[in-house]
Amino acid sequence: MCGIIGYTGPDQALPIVLAGLQTLEYRGYDSAGVAIDGHGALAVVKRAGKLANLRAELDQIQLAGTCGLGHTRWATHGEPNDPNSHPHVDAGSSLALVHNGIIENHAELKAELAAAGHTFTSDTDTEVIAHLVGSLHDGDLAAAVRAALPRLTGQFAVAVMDHRDPGTLVAARRNAPLVLGHRDDASLLSSDVAGLIAHTRDVEALLDDQVAVLAPGAVTVTDLDGNPAQGHRYTVDWDIAAAEKGGYEHFMLKEIHEQPAAVRDTLIGRTDAEGRIVLDELRGGPDAAQDLRHVDKVYVVACGTSYHSGMVAKYAIEHWAGIGVEVEIASEFRYRDPILNPHTLVVTISQSGETADTLAAAEHALAQRAKVVAVTNVVGSSLARMADAVLYTRAGPEIAVASTKAFTTQIVALDVLALYLAQERRALFPDECRDHLARMEALPALIEQVLGQEAAIADLAHTFAGADYFMFIGRHVGLPIALEGALKLKEISYLHAEGFPAAEMKHGPIALIGAGGPVVALATRGHVWSKITSNIAEVKARGAVVLAIATEGDTEIKAHADHVVYVPEVLELLYPVLTVVPLQLLSYYIALALGCDVDQPRNLAKTVTVE
Ligand code: G6P
Repeated sequence: MCGIIGYTGPDQALPIVLAGLQTLEYRGYDSAGVAIDGHGALAVVKRAGKLANLRAELDQIQLAGTCGLGHTRWATHGEPNDPNSHPHVDAGSSLALVHNGIIENHAELKAELAAAGHTFTSDTDTEVIAHLVGSLHDGDLAAAVRAALPRLTGQFAVAVMDHRDPGTLVAARRNAPLVLGHRDDASLLSSDVAGLIAHTRDVEALLDDQVAVLAPGAVTVTDLDGNPAQGHRYTVDWDIAAAEKGGYEHFMLKEIHEQPAAVRDTLIGRTDAEGRIVLDELRGGPDAAQDLRHVDKVYVVACGTSYHSGMVAKYAIEHWAGIGVEVEIASEFRYRDPILNPHTLVVTISQSGETADTLAAAEHALAQRAKVVAVTNVVGSSLARMADAVLYTRAGPEIAVASTKAFTTQIVALDVLALYLAQERRALFPDECRDHLARMEALPALIEQVLGQEAAIADLAHTFAGADYFMFIGRHVGLPIALEGALKLKEISYLHAEGFPAAEMKHGPIALIGAGGPVVALATRGHVWSKITSNIAEVKARGAVVLAIATEGDTEIKAHADHVVYVPEVLELLYPVLTVVPLQLLSYYIALALGCDVDQPRNLAKTVTVE
């Protein structure tokens, strides 16, 4: 999704802005641009395609200036070409503006501005904001931005600079992330903390309808009326090395390998001396002792990979805590009429904490007075701030667009939540809770064991890389992993891959099985093992080549499947944390074999801040 970076300070802005854009590349984009204030005139350069295209253009020109803005655009309104790229300028080219989000009333505003004589050079909603701010500018850029914001409907993070106000950046947001970076000699802004940590750890998340004015070493935040205000200021505690590749060829591979440590971190400090689960985080919101005991219904709401971890949580919460759970895609949840009340617990899951649909779903649930718990990876994210309580997954920064360690840590955090609900509601005996938790604590070492099979999985990936259609089948907790395995593969290899409940195959999808098409079956030992082996037999009988993900020691599975990858034996509900790992590696090596851009797959964005 779009990335924004801004700098004003003593140094040349262009190298800082370009380096910042490079850090934000992982968000996914299809064009990039910069604006530099070169003493009395703005220079704007923008190019469709990757950052390399913009850099090639900038190599031809000298852009000097100590105040600048940069943007990577993920197209929503208008194709990804040069004119539609950001920054956009106003009618007199006095100001340059970058934007992340969607302005829903852009057509209406455009018509109004056009009637007043403005001409537009792009198809974007963003250009309309530039013209609107320009038309309201009467000597004070911040005042113009404050006057423009109430006219905008939708969601946005904007940053703007004007050559009549040298060395100043003005930024604002509504339902889209924007973070300010404080330093003694300089000030920065970015859509993402990752864009700032090379320069400062002292950051401030701007809140909705706040306007920030940045000068070198000085930041002022106000509300829309110009009254002093403050964002959410905090210190970033993760290291820049955590956001770099650390010797791996791709972030995705690095993040797959970080899973043992990430899961360990997720579990740290969740118990007291007696082995009881302690989730202090929840005490600020739905109080553990009171509210959670009275929860009579749980909704789990998320998008993409996070939705799949929510599906896994359903099995754990229903089985351990005995509460009915519905899992729903956030964009669907928000537009129907879910029956919510103060006894409903809505668990929202989001790696980034910024996914627009998930935020809107949380907002809807809060408005119905349901209790909202956020399971997120990003401290201080919008979701974390709006929820009644937050359970952080502590996976560290996830850079690759295809989510891996965020997924496994989400499952583990949700399992802890499920056990906590069981404990507080006395649905499990204390020793059962302790036993389950102890088994969870063994997961990091077990993930290591699965990762030890990387070479064999890479070989299998080569065997399968020529196939053009993959099916993933699973039952019970194997089903979300089948869906996640298929999602991972299609995301990064562009191969057609679908996941199905294994027994549903005979109701339609089995018609797709041709000679030799690979079917990946989640077939670990558990109460549905004999059922899934029958489903494997059904597809094999029709010519499928089957790769089974099975439990170590299960020699019988070899009679059913052509290829087997084993994972260590665990509690049935915990298998997803292990079985997803070979599927992540399989997708990675297939994408690599096909020469795909693993970390930044086409058309996809890491953080989806539009609905
Ligand atoms: C995008 C990402 C996915 C992610 C989904 C939800 O589509 O590419 O990897 O699962 O958004 O993101 P969230 O940050 O809410 O978990």
